[in-house]
Amino acid sequence: MPMRFVLIAFLLLTLFAGCAEKQRENYVIGFSQCTGDDEWRRAMLDGMERELAFHNNTKLIFKDAHANSAVQVKQIEELLQSGIHLLIVSPNESDPLTPVIEKVFRKGIPVVVVDRRTSSPYYTAYVGGDNYQVGKTVGEYIVTLLRGEGKIIEITGLPRSSPASDRHRGLVDALAGQPGIRRMATLNGQWEKEIAKKQLRETLPRFPDLDLIFAQNEVMAMGAREVCNEVFPDRKIRVIGVDGLPGQFGDIQMVYDGHITATALYPTGGEEAARIAMNILQKQPYQKENLLQTAIIDSSNVRMIKMQTDKMISQQNDIERQQARIDEQLEIYQTQRGLLYVMTGLFIVSIILGSVALYSLIENKKINRELNSKNQEILVQRNRIQDIAEKAQEATESKFRFFTNISHEFRTPLTLILGPVEELLKQKNENPAARKNLSLVQKNAKRLLWLVNQLMDFRKIESGKIRVQASGSDIVAFIRELMLPFDQVARKRRIDFRLITTLPSLEVWFDRDMMDKVFFNLLSNAFKFTSDWGRIHIHLSRISDHVVIKVQDNGSGLSETDIAGAFEMFYQGKNSIKGTGLGLPLSREFVELHQGTIIADGKKDEGATFTVTLPLGTAHLRPEDIADPVADPVDRSVDWTIAETEERPATAVQKDQPAVLLIEDNEDLLGFMAGLLQNHYQVSTATDGLAGLDQCFETVPDLIVCDVMLPGMDGLQITSTLKADLRTSHIPVILLTARNTPEQQVEGMQARADMYLTKPFSPQFLQESIRSLLANRQLLRSAQIGRGMPDAEAGLSRLDKKFLNELRALIVSRLDDPGLTVESLGKELGLSRVQLFRKTKALLGGGANDLILNLRLEKACSLLLNPDLTMAEIADQTGFTSQSYFSTVFKNRFGVSPKDWRFVKS
Ligand code: FRU
Repeated sequence: MPMRFVLIAFLLLTLFAGCAEKQRENYVIGFSQCTGDDEWRRAMLDGMERELAFHNNTKLIFKDAHANSAVQVKQIEELLQSGIHLLIVSPNESDPLTPVIEKVFRKGIPVVVVDRRTSSPYYTAYVGGDNYQVGKTVGEYIVTLLRGEGKIIEITGLPRSSPASDRHRGLVDALAGQPGIRRMATLNGQWEKEIAKKQLRETLPRFPDLDLIFAQNEVMAMGAREVCNEVFPDRKIRVIGVDGLPGQFGDIQMVYDGHITATALYPTGGEEAARIAMNILQKQPYQKENLLQTAIIDSSNVRMIKMQTDKMISQQNDIERQQARIDEQLEIYQTQRGLLYVMTGLFIVSIILGSVALYSLIENKKINRELNSKNQEILVQRNRIQDIAEKAQEATESKFRFFTNISHEFRTPLTLILGPVEELLKQKNENPAARKNLSLVQKNAKRLLWLVNQLMDFRKIESGKIRVQASGSDIVAFIRELMLPFDQVARKRRIDFRLITTLPSLEVWFDRDMMDKVFFNLLSNAFKFTSDWGRIHIHLSRISDHVVIKVQDNGSGLSETDIAGAFEMFYQGKNSIKGTGLGLPLSREFVELHQGTIIADGKKDEGATFTVTLPLGTAHLRPEDIADPVADPVDRSVDWTIAETEERPATAVQKDQPAVLLIEDNEDLLGFMAGLLQNHYQVSTATDGLAGLDQCFETVPDLIVCDVMLPGMDGLQITSTLKADLRTSHIPVILLTARNTPEQQVEGMQARADMYLTKPFSPQFLQESIRSLLANRQLLRSAQIGRGMPDAEAGLSRLDKKFLNELRALIVSRLDDPGLTVESLGKELGLSRVQLFRKTKALLGGGANDLILNLRLEKACSLLLNPDLTMAEIADQTGFTSQSYFSTVFKNRFGVSPKDWRFVKS
C-alpha cells in the first residue's frame, strides 16, 4: 500500500515537470541570411528577435552564409535536417537558392522569403520592400533633381539577386521618357562597398562631367562618395543611395551630413517577417505577398526623419531595457515557478508521506494488536509448557528421590550382609566349605555393592552433582596399579595380560576415582569375555597432545550392533558387552567429563578394542575441575578394602564402660551394631529420632551413633539439638547414612557431627571410630582433671567452656554454704542430678561433688595462709559443717591435718 502512494507522488511530479517542459521551445524557426556582415542585415535580425521575444515558446536558429550561395544552400539543408518548423530565408541569389528552398517548401515546412526573392512561386509568404518601386522612385527623383538634363552612373547589387534587377528595372522605366538624362554606365558593385569602389575608380575618370551616381544600397553609396572625393575632389557629384538606415553610421545621417544627396527608404522587414512566421505557425491568417513601402529622404525631410528615427532608436533602446527587465522578471518568475513546483511537489509528497505514516500507524496498531494477542497466546502456551516442565521436573525429582531411596535400601541390607560375613570370615572357622561359601557371599555382595554404586554414580551425573577433581598423575603408573588385582586371575587363566608402552611415565590430569572406575570396568569386561589362554593387551601411547589407551582383547568380539549400542544406557549386548548396560555408559560419561573420548571397535569372534583418549595438560579443565591439593580427593565412603584393624579380644561389659546410644530405624542393622559393640560398651538403642533424643537427655551417653534418615526427627536435627544443649553438647556424635554426596557430608558436619560414616561401613571402621573418639575425650579430660578449670586451648566446644565457667563461678560464690549440694547446683543450672554428673564426668572425669570439694579445699588452703583466722572460722567460710569434719576431709586429701599444713607453710 505505501508503494502505491509513492508511485502516485512520482507521477504527479512527472506531470508538473512535463507542464514546465511544454511551455519551452514549441517552435523552432530556421533563419538563413545571405549575409550578416552589414548594418542593414543586423537591423533585420534585431527586428526579428524583437518580435519573437513576444513568443517565448519559439527558438530561432540563425545561419549566416557570408554572401556565398553555395554555403547558403548547405546551411538550409542542415536546418532542414535539424527539424525546424519554419524557414525564413533571404536568398543570396535567386536561381542557385531556388531548388533547396522549394525542397523545404515541398516537405511541408512553411517558407517565409525576405528581401530577396527566389525564381519560383513555391514559398509560403514574401516580406520585403518594393524594389521596382524603389528604382522607379529614385529615377523620378533624379529627373526632378537634374531638371531633365544630366549624366548618371548606376551601381547595382548582385545582378542575379532580385532587388538588384527590380531596382534597375524601376530606374530604367522612370527615365524612359527623359532623353536628357543619360545613363553613362551600369556598374556591378555586388552590394559590397569595396567592389563598388573598385568598379567606380576604373570608370569615373572617363566621366569628368558626371552629375549623379545611383548606388543600389547604403554601403555602395558611401563607397561612391569616397571615390568621387578621390577622383574629383573639386567637384560635388551627387550620390543617391538606398536603405535609409537610421543611426550614427546609417545613410540617414549621411544625408543629414550632406555626404550623399538622398536615399530611398528600404525597410528590412525583420519584425514583419517574424510576425507573419508566427501567424503561419499558429495557424493565424496572413498574406502571402507583403510589400513594404518606400520614400525618398533628402535635405528637405531628413531633419524630421532623423529626429523620428533617433527617437525610434531611443525608444527602441527603452524597449530593449524593458525587455531586459522583463527577461529578468521572467527569469525570477521561472525560478519562482520552479520553486512553486518543488514546494507543491514537496507538499504533495508530505501529504502522501503523512498518509503513508497514518496508514502505517493504523497498520502498526493493527499488527500490534495481533502481536499482543499472539503474545498472549504464546504466554499461555509458555505457562502451559512451564507447568508441564515443572511437572516433568517434579517427576524427575521424584524419580531421583526414588532412585536414591532404593539405593539406600540396597545399601543397608548390603551392610548387613557384608558386615556379618566379614565378622564370620575373621573368626577362624575350621570348615573350609563354609569359608568358601562365605567368600562367595562376600564376593557377590561386593559385586552387588559395586552395581549399586554405579547406579548412584549415574544419579549423581544426571543430577549434575558430580564434579571432576583432577590432579596431575603418572598415567603409566596408574594403569600398572590398576592391573595388579587382575594379575592373579590372568596368571591362573593363562591369559597374556600386559601393558605395552614405550613411555616410562606420562603426566595426565585426571580424576583418579573416575578413571579407576573406567579402566576397572574395561578390564573386568575384557577378562569376562576372553577365554583362558587368551590375550588382553593395554597399549598406551602419546599422540600429539593426547594420551591414547587401548584395552584390546581377543575374546568373543563385538558385532556392529554392539559397537553402535555399546555406550547406550541399559544396552544388553550379546558378546563382549553383555551385562547391566551401566558400566560403559558410565565410563563414557566419566571420560567425557574429562573432554576425552571412548570408542569401541572390533568384530564378532575377533576380539574387542576400547580406546580411551584424554587431552594432556590442564587447558581443557575448568578451575573448579582441578582438585584442591590439600583436600582428600577420594570419596569418603568407606571402602571395603580398608586396612583391617587389629582384632581386640572381647571382654565382658563392665559398669564403668562408656555408654553408647545407637539410634537406627532398621532393626536388623541396629541389632548388628549392638552385637558388634556390646562387648566393649554399655549399649542402649532407639529406633526413631524423637525417642533417641529423649534418651540422650535422659541418660546422657558417652557417645551416640545415629542414622541420618529416621522417622520422627532426622539425624541432622538430632545432632544440632544435642550440640546446642548444655546437657548434651559434649557428647560425640557419629552420623551414619547411605547418602554419600559431598554436599550431604557437609550438611552433616554443619550440624556439628563429630564423624560421618557412609553405609555400607566396615564393622572394624565403626569400632575404631568409636574407640578413637572416646580416647580423644579421655585425653581432653586428663588435661583438665583436678582443676575444674577448662583450659582455653582444650578443644572443648564454646558451650562446654561456658558451662564449666558458670559451674565454677556458682560453686565459688557459695563455697561457705554447707547446703551446696549437687542437687542444688543442678537446679540452678537446669540439669538433673544424673545429667550434671554425666556432664562433669564427661568434661572433667569426675562428678560435681568432687569439684565442690576440690574448690572448698583450694579456698581453705588460701585461708590457712592467713594466721588471723581460726580453724573454726576457716571451716565455716569453706562450708564445712564442723571443724572436725573439715580436718578429716583435709587430712584425707593432703595426708596432713590443716594445722600441720599451716605450720609447714608459715
Ligand atoms: C544589404 C543590402 C541592402 C540592400 C539589400 C538588397 O545586404 O545590400 O543594402 O537594400 O541588401 O538585398
